Amino acid sequence: MAGTSKSLLLIACCLTLVFSEVPSFQPNTSYQYYYTLDLFLAQFAQSAMPTTRLQIHATIDAFLLWKNKTQSEEQLIKLQVKDFAVYNGSTPGSKESMAINGEKRGCLEAPIIFHWRSGKVVGLYGTCEKDRQLLDITRGLVSLFQFQPLSGSHIEEDVSGRCQVTYNVSQDSINKTKDFGSCKNSPFGYKSDFKVLGISWNSTSRGYMSLNASVPQKVVSEESHNLSARLRSQLGVHITSRQELELISSEPGSPEIEGESIDMVLGQLQEKFHKIELMSYPRDRPGRNETLIKRYLETSKKKMNKLAFSKLSTVRYFRNAVNALRSATKRETLMLLQTASSDLALFFIDAAVAAQTPATLAALSDFLDFSKKKQTHLHEKFLYSAAFTPHPTVDLLNLVMGKLQAKISEPATMETGLIITGAIVAKLCRMGLCSDKDVEFAKATLLEGLNNAEDETEMKIFLLSLKNAQLPESIPILLQYAAERTGVVCSTALSALQGFPAEILSIEEIKDIMRQILNQTHRVYDKKSWLMAAETLLSTNISVEDVNSISAALEFMDNETSKLILSKLHHKLREQPQLMKTMKIPFKDMYIIDDWTTLKAGRSTVFSGRLSATNETVSTYGLDLLFTESGLLKRSISDITLYNDIHQLKAMQVSIEAQGLETLMGGEETENEDDSAMVGMSAALLGVQLRPVVFFNGYMDLVSKVFTSSSEPIKVVRGNILLVDYLQWLPLQSGLQAVVQHQAALGLEISSKIEVSIWDQESKTNINTKAGLVLDFMTEIDTSLFHVSLKAETHAETSVDLDSVMQLVGSPMQMCLELRHDDMPYRESYILTETFPASNTTRTVRKGRTSTLRGRDFPFHNANSEMCRTLKDAEDISSMLGQLQTEEPY
Ligand SMILES: *[C@@H]1O[C@H](CO)[C@@H](O)[C@H](O)[C@H]1NC(C)=O
Ligand SMILES: *[C@@H]1O[C@H](CO)[C@@H](O)[C@H](O)[C@H]1NC(C)=O
Ligand SMILES: *[C@@H]1O[C@H](CO)[C@@H](O)[C@H](O)[C@H]1NC(C)=O
Ligand SMILES: *[C@@H]1O[C@H](CO)[C@@H](O)[C@H](O)[C@H]1NC(C)=O
Ligand SMILES: *[C@@H]1O[C@H](CO)[C@@H](O)[C@H](O)[C@H]1NC(C)=O
Ligand SMILES: *[C@@H]1O[C@H](CO)[C@@H](O)[C@H](O)[C@H]1NC(C)=O
Ligand SMILES: *[C@@H]1O[C@H](CO)[C@@H](O)[C@H](O)[C@H]1NC(C)=O
Ligand SMILES: *[C@@H]1O[C@H](CO)[C@@H](O)[C@H](O)[C@H]1NC(C)=O
Ligand SMILES: *[C@@H]1O[C@H](CO)[C@@H](O)[C@H](O)[C@H]1NC(C)=O
Repeated sequence: MAGTSKSLLLIACCLTLVFSEVPSFQPNTSYQYYYTLDLFLAQFAQSAMPTTRLQIHATIDAFLLWKNKTQSEEQLIKLQVKDFAVYNGSTPGSKESMAINGEKRGCLEAPIIFHWRSGKVVGLYGTCEKDRQLLDITRGLVSLFQFQPLSGSHIEEDVSGRCQVTYNVSQDSINKTKDFGSCKNSPFGYKSDFKVLGISWNSTSRGYMSLNASVPQKVVSEESHNLSARLRSQLGVHITSRQELELISSEPGSPEIEGESIDMVLGQLQEKFHKIELMSYPRDRPGRNETLIKRYLETSKKKMNKLAFSKLSTVRYFRNAVNALRSATKRETLMLLQTASSDLALFFIDAAVAAQTPATLAALSDFLDFSKKKQTHLHEKFLYSAAFTPHPTVDLLNLVMGKLQAKISEPATMETGLIITGAIVAKLCRMGLCSDKDVEFAKATLLEGLNNAEDETEMKIFLLSLKNAQLPESIPILLQYAAERTGVVCSTALSALQGFPAEILSIEEIKDIMRQILNQTHRVYDKKSWLMAAETLLSTNISVEDVNSISAALEFMDNETSKLILSKLHHKLREQPQLMKTMKIPFKDMYIIDDWTTLKAGRSTVFSGRLSATNETVSTYGLDLLFTESGLLKRSISDITLYNDIHQLKAMQVSIEAQGLETLMGGEETENEDDSAMVGMSAALLGVQLRPVVFFNGYMDLVSKVFTSSSEPIKVVRGNILLVDYLQWLPLQSGLQAVVQHQAALGLEISSKIEVSIWDQESKTNINTKAGLVLDFMTEIDTSLFHVSLKAETHAETSVDLDSVMQLVGSPMQMCLELRHDDMPYRESYILTETFPASNTTRTVRKGRTSTLRGRDFPFHNANSEMCRTLKDAEDISSMLGQLQTEEPY
């Protein structure tokens, strides 16, 4: 029963299916069509900015040249283009006809034949092959005849590549939508690793063909593309292109040709037809610019010893240098590096790494000799540049690995090299190159290196490298090091684990190990590892059980550590309010749910606030402060994070750790871990962990550094990088090709200054970050008839200060933190250029605007604001007293 009803249903269903006729032409008839192609280009979401509107008009004669005797839906169609014209309608209300060079017109109006089988274009033949760009216009026209009467999704090839299309068929029309994102075509261009910073891309492509007795009456194809920079959505492009073919008339025409095969048919024709591929190919990018490279070579010879890396002029110069070096030879690049003086050599290393061509990498390989001690600062520069490349190549990885296997004069260089190798591996893996044999080799080197490490220092370096690499297969190994070791190895392994996303960290195996460390089930861990295990657990999707094991561990922690953990738990539970409700209150007497700030004595805390927000990207700053029981700062972590709806990027994280400072302050009891006095810093920039540095280790070291240091700020980071480097090719359905390029060049100078005044018993630190950012977005449509380019550039320069003032007398110690940024002027400019070579005209429209983001202070927690007020008042009083003294010398 069920079987029959099913088959009945099947029959009923198939009977209601609508079949369209197969598009085809009748013999002995010539059809005239009117063809229009409309192209519109505008800045994305900027309606006030200049736009381009171009039109192509032509008349097309089409007739059936041959058809298959056994299957009449297989046909050869000959097209003849006539009256080809280009109109420029960019200025509203006008439509100007643009001249076309005679030779090009000859090519455009040469006959074309296409092979049509049941609506699918299976072959294309032409007589004029000279101009590849004009052929694309032909391809776009012929692609318009491809409408298959097949409902449902299919893979189909046309001018844009092999794409997924969906057909919707009715009796007299066929509708098609194309998923442009699915198109497979020639590889071209590159994308950046950082998802937060990339490009949002949205496109639609659809069309229909209406038929009358199988003959196409009207064919329309429309597509639109919106591309915009994630960092700033005002930078982007909106492209639409619309093709239309409309039947005007038909008249008796020449009879079809007999032939057993396509070749035999083509052989009978007077003109010689060549097969042409339907898919288009990316055109070569403009060649090298000799004058630019010469200019850089001249600059490099100038004695330039101080370069302001974050100045806009330098950043723009950097971006241009990268683009010029992309077409430089190895010899030229090597000359540039060899003749450059001090700072400029650093600058050109950044540029050569960012250009990343085989020639620039070969030049870097020759130039950098890791056994030369004199070059040490260049080696570090090279390694960090490599780590920040937005889309590293395997060749770059091999260059780094090769240098690390040769002789190295400075042990710290080796450490930096190993740490950044992990960062390059991570990026290559995210680009889908994880199983490339050279990447596999690098991964194996890091894992074996950890396995063979002889002491804790070495283990720490390999663990930091794995922290950068973010390899899922390293998780069990990291867990093992966390569980079986203590001290720096355990805490570094935990910090490597913290880099993984919460979903990965939330598996029970990982949580179990964290709970075991917290509960000291198998061994006794040091305080730092203890704290970090709690933090790791807090960075998962926490459960009631996790909260319980954390609260059980709190009982054994000192007041400040448990204050910090409670503060973090509070932040975490704010994100998960449902957990807050279902949770049984675990914190006995010290728990007052309405007022977490009075949870426990102590000043350690975590804080975060919003730095800025655009519609797509939010940036936040965070601060995490841990004090010792005696009131000294033990650890401070500050970070700046960028978010959009799906991705996030730790743009910057600086962690400063101090231990054993009590011994320096004299007399006070030290914490039970009797380490010698040490202060160190560990920083991560754009998701890349840098080599940790130690400011001083031990009393004697401190004293010698105090006496040898100058009052100049210490330069922590200086350089230029491409934050975003994006090049994309869009082969439009109309045959026109758009090339989209987006680059974000950043210049960064981070310096720090520490002043200790014995007299005022006060210490002041300043971390200053100066940054210059140049974002540009360019779209070009280039045919040999016209060239359109749409450019947008935004640039901004800013300076951010993080100041701290610590009063070293009195208990508890007073400390004030301040974060502020100066006025940030920024400028946007938009340039449209249209060039018509045959009529020798170029139209350029420029528009721009300037604005300033007012400088401001960013608040931290209330306790900080109060302490700042107290310290400021004290400062005002002492400066008043100072004035009184100078005015009235006794
Ligand atoms: C087309 O024209 C040829 C010769 O003019 C004639 O032999 C043939 O029968 C015609 N075919 C049709 C389908 O009318
Ligand atoms: C095809 O598209 C045209 C125009 O958008 C529309 O009028 C028609 O209803 C569509 N036909 C089908 C079968 O979806
Ligand atoms: C992408 O296109 C869809 C449909 O047209 C629209 O709803 C969406 O807002 C677009 N997104 C962007 C980023 O332009
Ligand atoms: C004509 O169609 C038949 C059946 O589809 C096919 O076998 C034959 O190869 C076709 N002839 C030519 C010349 O393509
Ligand atoms: C090379 O670059 C210079 C400076 O940007 C420019 O003026 C010149 O037109 C460029 N030449 C070519 C052939 O692109
Ligand atoms: C902590 O470890 C002890 C044994 O060392 C065990 O009895 C206890 O259940 C553990 N607690 C948790 C929360 O795992
Ligand atoms: C820790 O806090 C408790 C009460 O919250 C207090 O009695 C104790 O003195 C504090 N310990 C230290 C070392 O300050
Ligand atoms: C951002 O969003 C606001 C409100 O949703 C809107 O008014 C504004 O135009 C948007 N800005 C951009 C650049 O999209
Ligand atoms: C194009 O214009 C420029 C300057 O207006 C002129 O020097 C040049 O000779 C012109 N070329 C042609 C082919 O007309």
